Amino acid sequence: MNEMTTLERIQTGDELERCPFPIPLGWFAVALSEELKPGGIANIHVFGREWVLFRGEDGKAGLADPYCPHLGAHMGHGGEVVGNNLRCPFHHWEYDAEGWCKKIPYAKVMPGIARKKPVLKTLPIEERYGVIFAWYHPNGDEPYFGIPDVPELESDEYIPMRRGEWDIGTMIQEIGENGVDYPHLKYLHHAPIIPPGTAKAEGHIFRTDIGAGYIIGESHGPGVVIQRFTKDGVTMTMFAMSTPIDTEMTKTRMAFTFRNYPEGSKERAIAQHLYEHSIGAADGEDSAGFESVDLIVWDNKKYRPQPLLCDGDGPILLWRKWFSQFYAEPIEA
Ligand code: FES
Ligand SMILES: [Fe+2]
Repeated sequence: MNEMTTLERIQTGDELERCPFPIPLGWFAVALSEELKPGGIANIHVFGREWVLFRGEDGKAGLADPYCPHLGAHMGHGGEVVGNNLRCPFHHWEYDAEGWCKKIPYAKVMPGIARKKPVLKTLPIEERYGVIFAWYHPNGDEPYFGIPDVPELESDEYIPMRRGEWDIGTMIQEIGENGVDYPHLKYLHHAPIIPPGTAKAEGHIFRTDIGAGYIIGESHGPGVVIQRFTKDGVTMTMFAMSTPIDTEMTKTRMAFTFRNYPEGSKERAIAQHLYEHSIGAADGEDSAGFESVDLIVWDNKKYRPQPLLCDGDGPILLWRKWFSQFYAEPIEA
């Protein structure tokens, strides 16, 4: 799809902001499961603020506002997990992963509000594929879509996931726009040609096809992308998770896997090549990888709300329109 824009006036750099949008809603990776043992507690900074992450003895993880509803102590500094609860260091009040106050060691009667509802802000948590995901919505709304099923990430017939992690100096919308920016694959990444591409928005899912079946991608909200690279009938899967640290900084984690073809087989060599190619070129390029080229662009660019597009550009505006559904407040696109 080609999109051309007719503009009366082009904004200059001083009129532009780097990342003018709020933090989007969706499921986001907040930690790897192995980083949080039962009884463990950690301070993390995501979604533009501090949180305390903890895991009860029952294995269930919670992500909570660190400031105790009682007198405001920060529970990530001196707090402990007791049983399945997070215990504040100051007066030993305890909270569960849903934010209910479970115990006040010196109270005869629980305060009224604490009997009726959770008093500590927490986020819904799901743990899959060795990752702890939290549902973030700026207004606290409940999840209305899920984390996708990716059978190869849970199958014994696939190699254990190989992972990487990067901090990127821009917002997720800008990173994802790469997936529909076909010309940059040639000019920034030095692919031999501009590959053909198609894209389709379906509710909270955005589907892409780059290189006529070479890379089939699915974005499930802002935080989860699956890309399957296929060559000569062999497929390698990339599972990418991006999390807003704040409005201008994103943590992107990637996991890769492929079928555990016998060592020495032709299929294994192809899969291994697709994997190596993706580490260097995680968004489908044939030469320069995203780490060496995209990061420099992302870290320094500004967002143009009204870009000057030409007929050879990819469906940039379709991507932006799809992505705008994840901002809780209407934004000026
Ligand atoms: S401030 Fe947390 S128990 Fe008092
Ligand atoms: Fe790129």
